[in-house]
Amino acid sequence: MAYETILVETRERVGLITLNRPKALNALNSQVLEEVVGALEAFDENPRIGAIVITGSEKAFAAGADIKEMASKSYVDAYMEDLFAGWDGLTRVRKPIIAAVAGYALGGGCELAMMCDFIIAAENAKFGQPEITLGVMPGMGGSQRLTRFVGKSKAMDMCLTGRFMDAGEAERSGLVSRVVPPGELIEEALKAADTIAGFSLPAVMMTKEAVNRSYETTLAEGLRFERRVFHAMFALDDQKEGMAAFTEKRSANFKNR
Ligand code: HXC
Repeated sequence: MAYETILVETRERVGLITLNRPKALNALNSQVLEEVVGALEAFDENPRIGAIVITGSEKAFAAGADIKEMASKSYVDAYMEDLFAGWDGLTRVRKPIIAAVAGYALGGGCELAMMCDFIIAAENAKFGQPEITLGVMPGMGGSQRLTRFVGKSKAMDMCLTGRFMDAGEAERSGLVSRVVPPGELIEEALKAADTIAGFSLPAVMMTKEAVNRSYETTLAEGLRFERRVFHAMFALDDQKEGMAAFTEKRSANFKNR
């Protein structure tokens, strides 16, 4: 498929999607949505891909939903097209997705990063939910996901004042998993994705499913889910291989990759 707003590449078993609307700081319009979700679905179905990285430019991961595209919409327009609901497609992707964030990740950009499985940030990253300055509020999950990442006080502060959080604050608050110099961002994200893609794919996918379950359910139900899935893993050839390799002091050669 020919994409116009994103670049799509594969690096061995890693799929790389680069948001590419530099003139609009990667603002997320409906075409970007369609293309990102389409590319993710294609990677998810491709058995040669084990993990995915989404990134933007050094200046902007994404400066938000496209304000110019949505400015004149009516309530009925927004309701009938179920504005932004299409991004839910990203959360149905079963393989791990890493967001590699440099520069601005604002509004929908911050929300897109939070839909991924984890965020690696460059030192120049800036996260924010500035929708309040536009007379609206987060509409792609920010009021819910940011609160789960950083807690109520910081989420309220960010959503109500619209202030930005730098990479250091984002790491201290649990929004991002690691911070690296801007020049090393892609390399670090690809390396993490490559590590993941080297493991047993079913084990990786089940692990992602279990961690995500912790957001959806009670602790008791989540623990029960974890145990069931953990027990099921003893049906994997890769479990036998992984444990045999440890005992035999060699590296594992997983079949289901
Ligand atoms: C459309 C955008 C855009 C956006 C930037 N641009 N952000 N276009 N939608 N979200 C465009 C600008 O209009 C400009 O185009 C070009 O990108 C460069 O931006 P500048 O503002 O000139 O750059 P700079 O001075 O460096 O400032 C960077 C910035 C600023 C601080 C990131 O662009 C900014 O504040 N952007 C908006 C951030 C925001 O409010 N995001 C939340 C959106 S709402 P031209 O053609 O003028 O050169 C959202 C949630 C939706 O995401 C859910 C609620 C409805």
